[in-house]
Amino acid sequence: MPLQIVRNDITKMRVDAIVNAANRSLLGGGGVDGAIHRAAGPGLLTECRALGGCETGQAKATRGYNLPARYVIHTVGPVWHGGSDGEPELLAACYRNSLRLARALKCESIAFPMISTGVYGYPKELALPIATRTITEFLMENEMQVYLVVFGAGALAVSLKLFDNVRQYIDENYVAEHVDRREDRRREALWQRDGESALRYDQQLAEEMSFNAMPDLTPLPGAAKPDWEKMLKQTDEGFSQMLLRKIDEKGMTDAQCYKKANVDRKLFNKIKIIPGYRPSKPTVFAFAVALELSLDETREMLEKAGYSFSHSSKMDIVLEYFIMNRMYNLLEINEVLFQFDLPLLGSAAC
Ligand code: APR
Repeated sequence: MPLQIVRNDITKMRVDAIVNAANRSLLGGGGVDGAIHRAAGPGLLTECRALGGCETGQAKATRGYNLPARYVIHTVGPVWHGGSDGEPELLAACYRNSLRLARALKCESIAFPMISTGVYGYPKELALPIATRTITEFLMENEMQVYLVVFGAGALAVSLKLFDNVRQYIDENYVAEHVDRREDRRREALWQRDGESALRYDQQLAEEMSFNAMPDLTPLPGAAKPDWEKMLKQTDEGFSQMLLRKIDEKGMTDAQCYKKANVDRKLFNKIKIIPGYRPSKPTVFAFAVALELSLDETREMLEKAGYSFSHSSKMDIVLEYFIMNRMYNLLEINEVLFQFDLPLLGSAAC
């Protein structure tokens, strides 16, 4: 998954470079700056002294010293003055210049804190989309594993309204496993007491289910004749054939699709060349979102990968909410999934 949101202490991240939210002197401070200097040891400050400071929006690199990371990329975020003092452009420049410097250092992985959202007062809900948009733009043209590190219990700034809507949808639809078992226990008790009425109950339930389950196949007046040939061909296509067919139908290139799905190239190539390759469910969902599939098309793609929507999975319900409302911003979906501590969409080659 080229862009991952993780809850961690950035000084613990085992990546090629971690980014420090520094100040223009580069001589250390509080917050993540202080944490990085403490963990790296005195050698970091000695090297920083020789850098002669850093302008806001720019980035400079040092070694990582005692940190697990090979490099520290120091960048200086804008102080928040209300948003009309060039803050958004400067914040985007911090992410862009840090990524470019990491690429120049041949880094394959990098971890960012939420720059400027602490001491510098940048509102998280405004800083987050700038961070994810700038990182995503870079990843459309480059291969790198990027982590956005949320520190401690700090909430990710998902809009409260969206968060509440999704939570309400989960509450209305989540069917925990035990509810089905309760139904089974009720039916078992019925069989124990009176097999006849239990039989009648099951027959009535079966009629109900079969009524709902059988799609009404009578063509609507004036509806186009079903293309049985095409439908038959689609019935026996596998997941990867359906994925490639949908990419063509949407007029996308393979790269546009897997990058939009937050899936890395290696995994996409596996799916493409290994017949019957079975991706994870989050990966199937990620492609459904990237292709902006309908709920029915998503169901079909899940089935071809051997899965189905399940209301005993909160992740499935969250995806059902977004796809039903035709909301296909994968980063926004991942921010909500992150908030519910659920697996994120996309995938890295395992
Ligand atoms: N790991 C990851 N993130 C962290 C950590 C950590 N160990 N410590 C703090 N953070 C998060 C904060 O929760 C915040 O979301 O980093 C984000 C940035 O907060 P600050 O560190 O305060 O950085 P910033 O807002 O950019 O202000 C920079 O603060 O520390 C001084 O010298 C620094 O003057 C500079 C100013």
